[in-house]
This record gives sequence, C-alpha cells and structure tokens, in this order.
Amino acid sequence: MTPKSTNRRPKPEHMTGTDDGVVAAHWESVWTSKAPEINSWFEASPTTSLELIKRHAAPPRSAIDIGGGSSPLTRCLYQEGFRDLSVLDVSHAALTESRANFADHSGDITWIVADMNQWTPKRTYDIWHDRAAFHFLVAEEQVQRYAQTCGAAVAPGGLLVIGTFDLDGPASCSGLPVQRRSISTLMACFESDFVAIDATETTHITPSGTRQSFVFIAARRMAPVE
Ligand SMILES: C[S@@+](CC[C@H](N)C(=O)[O-])C[C@H]1O[C@@H](n2cnc3c(N)ncnc32)[C@H](O)[C@@H]1O
Repeated sequence: MTPKSTNRRPKPEHMTGTDDGVVAAHWESVWTSKAPEINSWFEASPTTSLELIKRHAAPPRSAIDIGGGSSPLTRCLYQEGFRDLSVLDVSHAALTESRANFADHSGDITWIVADMNQWTPKRTYDIWHDRAAFHFLVAEEQVQRYAQTCGAAVAPGGLLVIGTFDLDGPASCSGLPVQRRSISTLMACFESDFVAIDATETTHITPSGTRQSFVFIAARRMAPVE
C-alpha cells in the first residue's frame, strides 16, 4: 500500500463525557504538535502484538485496536488477510494520520473517534488489542469499566491482547501518569471474563533510544456462565 495524504476526518462516535473533552484535547495537541515518527511509543513494526495475534487467532477475524493512534498494526493485519478491522482513538488527528497511511484501503477500515473510557461498543469483536492506551487508566473505576467493556465486546472464544508499561517502565507518558503492571497484575484486571493463555515481557526502544519495559498478555474470552 502506498501512503497518501488525506484531510478527511473520522466522524466522532461519542465525544461527550465527564472529563469535558480534556482527554481528547490533550491527545489532539500531542498528535498535532510533532511528527508521529518521533513519538516515544512509535514502533515501525508491531512485532509483539502481531506475534500474539497470529499465534492465537487465525484470519479471517474481526479486530479492534483501542487507542490505536497511527500504529501499523491494523495495516499489518489487513496484509495478513483480516478484513473486519476497526481502530478507536480519542484523537481525530491520530486517526487522520493512520487513515492516510492506508491509502486506497482506508475505506475498508472502521474509524472510531471516541474516549475508550466512555465508549459503548455496538457490536462484538474476535480480537481486542490495546498497546499503551489502557495504562493511562489509573483510577480503579476506570479500569473496571474498561474490563467490563472488553467482557461485553469480545465474543466468546475471542482474544484479548493488552500491552502496558512493566513495573520498571516509565511512570508517565506524554505528560500523563500511567499505571505500571506486572503480567499477573495486568491479567488480574480481566480475570472475571478472560483466561490467560500467553504473556511476554518486551523492551521498546523509543525513537530517541530510551529503553522502555513492557508486558503483554493474551487472554481468551470465556463463555458466559448460563
Ligand atoms: C501511547 S499512544 C499508543 C498508540 C498505539 N497504540 C501504538 O502502540 O502505537 C496512546 C494512544 O491512545 C490514545 N488514547 C489515550 N487516551 C485515550 C482514551 N481515553 N480513549 C481513546 N484513546 C486514547 C492516544 O490518542 C494515543 O493514540
């Protein structure tokens, strides 16, 4: 796919909420203030995420990337044959950037501008992926709401892949505090609806050369109890 620029903006699905748009304004500012390639979280190849998804969910499968920003993950899944793909982000600018990188295939993707902490999915997905967005939820009630949303949105047998800063990772990102977790404390957030099937610790090298410790978990959605 050849990237091309576009000014089309994804239509907001849900931008109202208790934070009065503070979260959205923060991330819009982040995404419009510098080139995506120099953001600390930038990775040219989403190796860990892709490995976990390919190991545990063969295409065709529906997938959503939460806080996807301009991550190449969805493009990689598209190239792997996945066709029912969605990307959610609170920032218009992030999704506009991501959309431009899809060139002629951007219309095949569902772009959702929404705050993950307020969003209610209208459908289910086979795969729910989140790298470095969930860890911005530092209040227990936010974590619980996010986990409940995952439980409702991931189809039984579906896959959850979440990556966050490890316990020795940074305490903040983009000027916001984050909740660092071990593999077991990350998995514990989702244990009411999911069973752990895989996990790994990785080191992300930022564009400026800093090492950041990450943990990733993969978990299977359990069938609802009758
Ligand atoms: C650290 S970046 C990670 C981006 C991407 N997942 C990646 O790995 O390249 C965090 C992303 O989450 C988005 N984000 C932060 N808070 C959010 C929220 N409450 N709802 C939806 N997206 C959010 C930001 O706009 C940003 O794109």
